[in-house]
Amino acid sequence: NELGFDAAAAEKGGFAHFMLKEIHEQPDSLRNAIRGRLDFNLGSSVLSGMGTSPRDLAEIQRVVLVGCGTSLHAGLVGEYAFEDMADIHSEVQQAAEFRYRNPIIGSRDLVVAISQSGETADTLAAVREANQKGAFVMGLCNVVGSTIARETGRGVYLHAGPEISVASTKAFTCQVAVMLMMALKLGRGRRFSRDEGMKFAKAIEAIPELVQKVIEQSDRIEAIAARYAENEHAFFIGRGPMYPVALEGALKLKEISYIHAEGYHAAELKHGPIALLQEGTPVIALANDIPGKDKTLGNVEECRARGARILGIITEGDHEAAEAMDDVIEIPACHPLVSTIPAAVALQLLAYHIANVRGCEIDQPRNLAKSVTVE
Ligand code: AGP
Repeated sequence: NELGFDAAAAEKGGFAHFMLKEIHEQPDSLRNAIRGRLDFNLGSSVLSGMGTSPRDLAEIQRVVLVGCGTSLHAGLVGEYAFEDMADIHSEVQQAAEFRYRNPIIGSRDLVVAISQSGETADTLAAVREANQKGAFVMGLCNVVGSTIARETGRGVYLHAGPEISVASTKAFTCQVAVMLMMALKLGRGRRFSRDEGMKFAKAIEAIPELVQKVIEQSDRIEAIAARYAENEHAFFIGRGPMYPVALEGALKLKEISYIHAEGYHAAELKHGPIALLQEGTPVIALANDIPGKDKTLGNVEECRARGARILGIITEGDHEAAEAMDDVIEIPACHPLVSTIPAAVALQLLAYHIANVRGCEIDQPRNLAKSVTVE
């Protein structure tokens, strides 16, 4: 208009895209997700929305995490958290698979439906199926009052704020952060000690600052992205809780740049996928300092020997890992489960900058909807 006021730009907080705005919002959205939910007296978390007593939680014998897309990937990180910290058998099921397979579910199962929108048809159907079978069903949603939030009747809101970009970013990192707090709560009802709980609560509290350190590297990541934007294929590889991050990084790149990106467990390469590698194929390796890093560095060597170009997500100061890579993005040293969040932010920025170099739409990718309310 005559004042030169660009309403669309203002809506995006001055950022070129909602996706970039929401990536930059993550320190704040994570603070909102964590605020008031860590108990530094008991070394536990306070998630009143779960509506369960310690006795109820002690009865839980298994955690089943259901979701789709990015929410499914968040569940795959949660699986490691529940097993590592609560010693509780956990599994992840793609929501459509869960709803049609006649799942073996009962009153000792905690089913966590993960859905940013709270409207995804397959996840909603999974909730209804789990309710039918008498399980403890909880929602992990961002949209207050959404259908899944209402039909589970209990759970934890992300408080991430509205996520407009079809490609999910701040919802993913807040989903992971909330699941770390849920795992802490379950763990403290089991063998996780107060000291261990205190340490982990402090590690969670530090997450927003870790993410801020990655976001500050956005210009560097943009420069790296230019070297990876021309390829029509890309590998993302990781182990342990970094395997779901590899899947999520590949999904981000697929969605907004239309590059055929695939996430693989690093140990899977020699069982077939490595046949795809050609001179210059980009391999993004999640090789930060978590158990299994040395094996992943070995996989990187195998890829490099076949001419791949390697971008490593590594722990800052890890010179050995840096030597193995063509390019690196450094993330701060932190607890392995926590490190999934700054690593994911690095991959969000990588995907964003590659898509930008390729002149892609970004906020509304072709063929995609923000919430898949149909089967
Ligand atoms: C993620 O970037 C995609 N937009 C998509 O995979 C999304 O995560 C999936 O459709 C699930 O949506 P929900 O979390 O709202 O259930």
